[in-house]
Amino acid sequence: MFRHLKYPIIQAPMAGGISTVELALAVSENGGLGFLAAGYKTPEEIEQEIVQCNASGLPFGVNLFVPQNDTIDESVHSYKERLEKDYDIQLPIPEPNDDYWNEKLELVMKYKVPYVSFTFSCPSKEIIEQVKNNGSHVIVTVTNLKEAKIAIDLGANAICLQGVEAGGHRGTFENVDEETNVSLNELISTIRKEISIPIIAAGGIINGKDIYLALQAGADAVQLGTAFLCTEESGANAAYKQALQSGEFSETALTRTFSGRLARGLKNDFMAKYESFAPANYPAVNSLTKPIRAKALKDQNPQDMSLWASTRFKEIKQGTVKDVFEQLTKELLSYQS
Ligand SMILES: Cc1cc2nc3c(=O)[nH]c(=O)nc-3n(C[C@H](O)[C@H](O)[C@H](O)COP(=O)(O)O)c2cc1C
Repeated sequence: MFRHLKYPIIQAPMAGGISTVELALAVSENGGLGFLAAGYKTPEEIEQEIVQCNASGLPFGVNLFVPQNDTIDESVHSYKERLEKDYDIQLPIPEPNDDYWNEKLELVMKYKVPYVSFTFSCPSKEIIEQVKNNGSHVIVTVTNLKEAKIAIDLGANAICLQGVEAGGHRGTFENVDEETNVSLNELISTIRKEISIPIIAAGGIINGKDIYLALQAGADAVQLGTAFLCTEESGANAAYKQALQSGEFSETALTRTFSGRLARGLKNDFMAKYESFAPANYPAVNSLTKPIRAKALKDQNPQDMSLWASTRFKEIKQGTVKDVFEQLTKELLSYQS
């Protein structure tokens, strides 16, 4: 499935404006596989990006969020009241939303996107079949063996196996608390013994040695997000890039405070203050905190921004995608020889 790529290196889809067309195409041009992130975008926005990637003739992928609406209950309203009081701001009443699921599925079908990946759950057998019959490779993000087996039963061509070190949201099929301390490489070796379809390993991979070790543990390819956050082609805003590299933040943590779903990011004041109040309710909490995050961006205040990053953020390199990619592949080749 990845044999035609020069390197088995995939750029993680990163929603929130980070996965630009420039980022995806630069990764594919350099011999990896670039990904667009459809999450939170309107169908018109992602269509424009797909058209540009298609025109390049390079391989690329599109990632979709599988809808998972938790019932909006009293806990969401209490969190809303608490935030409104603290910030002296009127927040939107959260409503269920499916992130334009049907419209986005139609787009990946219309443009026969070469790789389509899904996160936050596994689509039905019928949908996976349709996308595959249309000529796309289907990848489903999983975080454990149980989810991997479900994805295989439902027809996925490959799994993206996400370790707990990963930046951004956990791709668990359900919005539940987890207690996992298993490292990515342990997870890969355990799951490799049980399944035969390709494994894309993701989570805290930042250099060529990490790539080599993940491949040695049994992965067929790797997916890197944090490693590309500070490249020139990344759409991460200046305050985010600064926070990642300034030394102001010393660690990451998993939090529900910004979106209602567990995600790993730089540990900031917002996380510390609201960790015990934030309900496990996605995407309602994500809509709720949007105005607070928008104001933080306007004020360039990283303490109220969601600064998604992996446990290895201190080793991020700057430069163009070409610079970062050349270093990764040089290191990888040195370990392989
Ligand atoms: C800023 C950011 C945004 C992310 N957005 C998405 C997304 O839209 N879809 C998705 O499947 N994964 C998303 N992820 C998770 C990554 O795809 C996945 O965990 C990654 O391959 C490993 O990332 P890492 O190298 O940062 O650990 C995001 C990660 C980050 C850091």
